[in-house]
Amino acid sequence: MTTNWWQDCVVYQIYPRSFQDSNGDGIGDILGIIQRLDYLQSLMIDAIWLSPIFLSPMADFGYDVSDYCTVDPVFGTEEDVLLLINEAHKRNIRVLFDMVLNHTSIEHPWFIESRQSRDNEKSNFYIWSDTIPNNWYAAFGGRAWTYDTNRKQYYLHSFLPQQPDLNWRNPKVVEAVFEQLAFWLDKGIDGFRLDVINCIIKDEALRNNPKIIGSRPRPYDMQRHIFDRNRPESHQKLKMMRKFIDKYDQRMLVGEILVEMPGEPELAASYLGLHHDELHLCFDFSLAYTRFSAARWKKVAKRWYEAVGKHRVPTWVLNNHDLPRIISRLHGNEEKARLAAMFLLTQRGAIFLYYGEELGLPNSKISRSAMHDPLGKRYWPFHPGRDPERGPMIWNTGEGNGFTTGESWLAFANAANRYSVENQELETESMLQFYRRLLALRKEDEVLRNGLCTFVDTTNTHILAYCREIEADQRLIVLNMSAKQITCSIPMLQVKDMQCEIMFATDGVRPEQIESPHAITIGGYQGRIYRLVDNR
Ligand code: GLC
Ligand code: CA
Repeated sequence: MTTNWWQDCVVYQIYPRSFQDSNGDGIGDILGIIQRLDYLQSLMIDAIWLSPIFLSPMADFGYDVSDYCTVDPVFGTEEDVLLLINEAHKRNIRVLFDMVLNHTSIEHPWFIESRQSRDNEKSNFYIWSDTIPNNWYAAFGGRAWTYDTNRKQYYLHSFLPQQPDLNWRNPKVVEAVFEQLAFWLDKGIDGFRLDVINCIIKDEALRNNPKIIGSRPRPYDMQRHIFDRNRPESHQKLKMMRKFIDKYDQRMLVGEILVEMPGEPELAASYLGLHHDELHLCFDFSLAYTRFSAARWKKVAKRWYEAVGKHRVPTWVLNNHDLPRIISRLHGNEEKARLAAMFLLTQRGAIFLYYGEELGLPNSKISRSAMHDPLGKRYWPFHPGRDPERGPMIWNTGEGNGFTTGESWLAFANAANRYSVENQELETESMLQFYRRLLALRKEDEVLRNGLCTFVDTTNTHILAYCREIEADQRLIVLNMSAKQITCSIPMLQVKDMQCEIMFATDGVRPEQIESPHAITIGGYQGRIYRLVDNR
């Protein structure tokens, strides 16, 4: 039985600049999202998460907020947001905002006041120092400390100099931040995605991070971030935040835990709180960081399930606005992308999709001169920037691809014909129809949403197989992650003499067809979902 909506939800992330433009300025907006709510409802998703829509000078495209309670005019008005919440709720879709609470924009009134003098009301809202106190670097380039000529001190910024870090050790900051959350909670928002939430507290003594040997293009990657991230006190703050949000009914917090490749599931899980008293959900990116392979995916998924444990909720994600799109990571191989989707949507817990993922939309090709992303601008060609994965949605093949009547702010992926929603709706075997079928199956099958997951051994290492179960009700998922046809058996099931009834297959095998676990034959990059039937 589902008790909390997020425990088995599917969340669809929207990068608002690129979803739907309603006024022809080439940039997606809130009214545009409202126009597409029927489409979102038809996907059977449970919630949407919008990347930041608040007032911002856009140095980091909204991840630099200058007022948390004002909607940036490029996206619309507060009225539009309230309409969006209302219209989404009518369709049983919840709405999550992206809160960037580690830092504000340099143009936030708190920072403007803080930099005025060393003794104003907001003077300790940020982290100031007379000299550069340590060896910390900013993730987006350069030292993490920038001199302010006004205050004649340095301030800390973990990202751009235009993104000063808030001082979460100051209780007034915590109080002020909670007020911003309350503003939207009172207006009916269903929860928040919390940006880089493991970074909010820094070492009290601002100690040096230990260095890493070797060489990497970004100095930030040459250190172990033990003093500027994951400080023990961050857990206290999240416990406070959880208490605060739990005063409201059924609101959810999902945190982004900033980590390097290959990911660190135990660290991510620690932010759920030992007693479920921190975040409701948090991201672990291990799967997204892991090469497509049965053995590797099994290993990372097992580790994540173990880290989270049976009583807390894991999240599963392949794409977001910071990662190259999955289909591009898979060099355009749609069969592999379908298997990846099948894996994702047959896991226990909360699933996060990124707009366009359901179309198999690839990265846009962005030339250096057309680049917007500050990370790409700074580290090109080592980092191609994050614009490619932020390309606009392709709704149809008309001018502006149904996204805009004007000129899009960012290039579309090539081959609109193939990727447009309109065309994929007409084709029964399109990626979109594939996602729809899987999403519908998940929605109707309690076992696929909430059943415990146990990975099972097979006689072939290219096969990824796992059971999902709620008491006697069992499913078996078998994914052939290699290019060749394989016949394998599943010893664990033979013992029990189970029969396998097909519920879903990528290779056109008829549903309800019965197979024996003694010999499952499955084509290259094909996958099946079975209902297990006990013969005894
Ligand atoms: C997070 C966001 C990313 C942003 C950064 C700084 O990692 O996902 O897009 O640039 O935080 O706010
Ligand atoms: Ca617009």
